[in-house]
Amino acid sequence: MTINTDKSTSVTDAINTRITTRAFLDKPVPKDVLTGIFETARRTASGGNLQPWNVHVLTGEPLETFRNGIMAKMMKQDFEQETHQAYPSPLWEPMRSWRYKLGEDMYALLEIPKDDKTARLMQVAKNFSFFGAPVGILIVGDKRLGMPQHLDIGIYVQSLMLLAREQGLHTAPQGAWRGWPDSVREFTKHTEDQEILVGMSMGYADPDQPVNDLVSDRAALEELVTFYDG
Ligand SMILES: Cc1cc2nc3c(=O)[nH]c(=O)nc-3n(C[C@H](O)[C@H](O)[C@H](O)COP(=O)(O)O)c2cc1C
Repeated sequence: MTINTDKSTSVTDAINTRITTRAFLDKPVPKDVLTGIFETARRTASGGNLQPWNVHVLTGEPLETFRNGIMAKMMKQDFEQETHQAYPSPLWEPMRSWRYKLGEDMYALLEIPKDDKTARLMQVAKNFSFFGAPVGILIVGDKRLGMPQHLDIGIYVQSLMLLAREQGLHTAPQGAWRGWPDSVREFTKHTEDQEILVGMSMGYADPDQPVNDLVSDRAALEELVTFYDG
């Protein structure tokens, strides 16, 4: 399937056409379009209306400076301590298999074999150039926030992803940014009480890149949803 770059005109279409996009065109997003997305995302629900997200949107020169800084650190293998593990370890079934399948499907599309660890690492490293996107987003939250507020931030992330589809844009949500907590803090100047929770790439998808043909599997409805009918 080729990635759908049309503007979504319904929530259903936005959900059905959104995919994690891992290659973007070098084409800026108009300022009013970008501002409009964040303006509307303010309406996202949060428990107690806490609005626990603190959002940094990078474009143009600041984005270049930030991603070049990360690239330079990667080249020097000057890595930082990840703040939160992405998954429980060890991961159990069926999630373990779902995660494995996602990776294998992506590397198959990219024609990167299992034993080519360098090529696989290079693909992962693309996270830190925001996959070439013209917009990089860093979402910071207070370390005292709990699970309920992290749910709220997840809902906010979904708002951004769906609003982006309405503008013909695509996104990649990125937990990977938790791997660069010091560099993010240096840039955003957030306090020691705050931490990077998630990042996101946003822009126009490159329809010619095979990685954007990845349509990840989903469990069947009955596997995860139970209806209790009268
Ligand atoms: C909170 C969150 C963090 C994610 N972090 C990353 C990431 O760091 N890098 C990446 O390539 N994909 C990341 N993903 C994308 C997931 O792998 C993707 O959503 C999942 O495989 C389903 O595929 P789809 O988004 O294309 O439907 C993340 C997704 C979410 C929701």
